[in-house]
Amino acid sequence: MHDNNTMIAEIKRLKQESNAIILAHYYQTSDIQDIADFVGDSFGLSKLAKDTDADVIVFCGVSFMAETAKILSPQKTVLLPAPDAGCPMADMVTADDVLALKARYPEAAVACYVNSSSDVKAVSDVCVTSSNAVRIVKALQQRQIIFVPDQNLGRYVAGQLPDKEILLHPGYCTVHHRLTAQETEAAKALHPGVPMLAHPECNQAVLDKADFIGSTAQILEYAAQSPMQAFIIATEEGILHELRNQNPGKTFHLLTNRLTCVNMKKTRMQDVYNALLHRQYQVELDEAVMRKARHSLDRMLELAK
Ligand code: 13P
Ligand code: SF4
Repeated sequence: MHDNNTMIAEIKRLKQESNAIILAHYYQTSDIQDIADFVGDSFGLSKLAKDTDADVIVFCGVSFMAETAKILSPQKTVLLPAPDAGCPMADMVTADDVLALKARYPEAAVACYVNSSSDVKAVSDVCVTSSNAVRIVKALQQRQIIFVPDQNLGRYVAGQLPDKEILLHPGYCTVHHRLTAQETEAAKALHPGVPMLAHPECNQAVLDKADFIGSTAQILEYAAQSPMQAFIIATEEGILHELRNQNPGKTFHLLTNRLTCVNMKKTRMQDVYNALLHRQYQVELDEAVMRKARHSLDRMLELAK
């Protein structure tokens, strides 16, 4: 189609014409982050999706994020420009798996990571994101918690809340989980004295060596407030764009060069343009599933206050 500048101008025009907003996750490519109205972590983007006055939400991220936006704003048109952008972790647990766990542990509450399908959210008691999981699980009445699907976030929560019994599911993020203790040691040896900031989806061996553990938004906040001038970053590389934007004088080293989520990189400028032009690809979910999943998300929003 057009050159990049013309396409960006067209995106802006189409956005105005259809009263749309573009939401993007910090793992999107830099050009997509730059054209977005808001860039955020899963929790921040969920809140924005719920509160926006726009009629159309173009969600530059992966499918569970766009589905979450639709559940929170069912009357709006939610578009996922790259329809095959999924999250392998979200596919690691099904609603039937959760129902089987509930039957086995009838006293337990089910906390599901937002990186899950709407069917899974619909059979869970509460949803969590990486920025609020500890706080929300702590606030639950039940001592026993079934935590799905991310074993690493679940283990991290368990470590923070020794009074709770957290029943882990074996799911994991294909990007964060494969980082090794050796790679961490190597990065620390290369940058002595430099603090390491890690996402809780990293495995225990990596988190044990982290100086700070938090969601993407929390990593950004930490880096901005810290007096340190350099950081090792243990999360997806897309976050470097905003880290560098916010902290022009500071240096950020990725823990390894293997920190790319291919699904997060599927959204291209042309897809955003096509999304607005053709109103594609619309998120459509079963009404009953949406209603039940909404309960888990509303409970999260309430407990996170
Ligand atoms: P955040 O909620 O920290 O942005 O994480 C989302 C995600 O998919 C991490 O892999
Ligand atoms: Fe899923 Fe991991 Fe990609 Fe996040 S980084 S979307 S958890 S595969």
